[in-house]
Amino acid sequence: MTQQRILIRGGRVLDPAAQRDEIADVLVENGRIAAIGTALDAAGAEILEAAGCWVAPGFIDLHVHLREPGQEYKEDIASGGRAAVAGGFTAVVCMANTHPVNDDPSVTEYILDRARQESPARVYPVGAATRGLAGEVMTEMVALVDAGCVALSDDGKTIMDSGVMRRVFEYSQLARVPIITHAEDRTLVREGVVNEGPVSTRLGLPGNPCVAEVVHVARDITLAELAGAHLHVGHVSTAGAVDLIRAARERGVHVTAEVTPHHLVLTDEATLGYDTNTKMAPPLRSARDVAACRAGLADGTLDAIATDHAPHAVHEKDVEFTAAPPGVLGLETAVPVTLELVRCEELTPLEWIRRLSTNPARIIGRPGGSLEVGAVADVAIVDPERRWVYDPAKGFSKSRNSPWAGQEMIGRAVATLVGGALVYDVERGVLLP
Ligand code: DOR
Repeated sequence: MTQQRILIRGGRVLDPAAQRDEIADVLVENGRIAAIGTALDAAGAEILEAAGCWVAPGFIDLHVHLREPGQEYKEDIASGGRAAVAGGFTAVVCMANTHPVNDDPSVTEYILDRARQESPARVYPVGAATRGLAGEVMTEMVALVDAGCVALSDDGKTIMDSGVMRRVFEYSQLARVPIITHAEDRTLVREGVVNEGPVSTRLGLPGNPCVAEVVHVARDITLAELAGAHLHVGHVSTAGAVDLIRAARERGVHVTAEVTPHHLVLTDEATLGYDTNTKMAPPLRSARDVAACRAGLADGTLDAIATDHAPHAVHEKDVEFTAAPPGVLGLETAVPVTLELVRCEELTPLEWIRRLSTNPARIIGRPGGSLEVGAVADVAIVDPERRWVYDPAKGFSKSRNSPWAGQEMIGRAVATLVGGALVYDVERGVLLP
């Protein structure tokens, strides 16, 4: 990547790793944070004016579907990487449910190779926990991790066989990576497509009950505790799961968890118009569940905001609700959507950034999440007040499936640096590679 000398001038520097919250300049040199302060020597530096903006360590999305290899008509590593940096994300963790599945080091190497050539954001692959995501035979976990996987997961599918799940947790100890779970008991979900409750009744659609998630979070906590493994619960959506995770953490179980922007701000009532862009797995839940997820995020039970960016083509979503694939875009809207929690004073700006950056970096054990001098210069610059209308057709993802299409947003990532290089600027678009 091109090495630039950049002075980010006059922004509110927010670094959760150092508990820093002050107006200052940030000098970036040789790919790293060179200095933070005032009156810095900026000779020859490109100036990025950041007055009125927040300057944060780059955001790291723990849960993204890049669709490459195999479904590049929905998204590919290049378009997903561009959508990431346009949303303030300097790194994305990409799920294994590609075609072929990332259950073999050759697939991991392919993804990393494409990412090096095509993606402005860092890409960290997740390897499948079981072959073909079939939930039966474990993958060669250590080989996947040696090839570059940062976690293992059958996300998109739940490992239903508890014996297999137990062994996955036990062997993950050798691979030294978290197991990310997709907690939806298929025997309880059955044909369910929306949250089971008054809304599913009104819609006349089969319900997907909260207990489908809660039962599996309870099982996975129990098995992870037995194995002494690191469980990371993907896309938590229920009050019951938040309670279980909080209790497990209190007794010392190594469990971390994430929540999506959509599960933080939308309830199942958003599905009342049968819009397939409100269909996802797990489904949107009740107001009580949303409140519990927000409380869990605020008190630290839920460590991270992760988008579950799940692109699907228009022709796939433009069908009856039951037939549409679950999933919504997230990378380009996560900042404005979750800034609502800052505006409601449920999170301080520093704590919001911790959940988008510092905590995700810790969970996958990769650099990032810090603006300390010497740290890799992955930086997100956010204008928290900027108003704009989100039009997926003008975004960088190949897909359009967003529940926020056409809506006015408040707050936007306005510039993104990866490894010290300016890769995105809101006026000029994606600049590299
Ligand atoms: O809504 C979802 N879509 N949830 C998942 O777990 C999988 C994802 C996808 O791959 O489309």
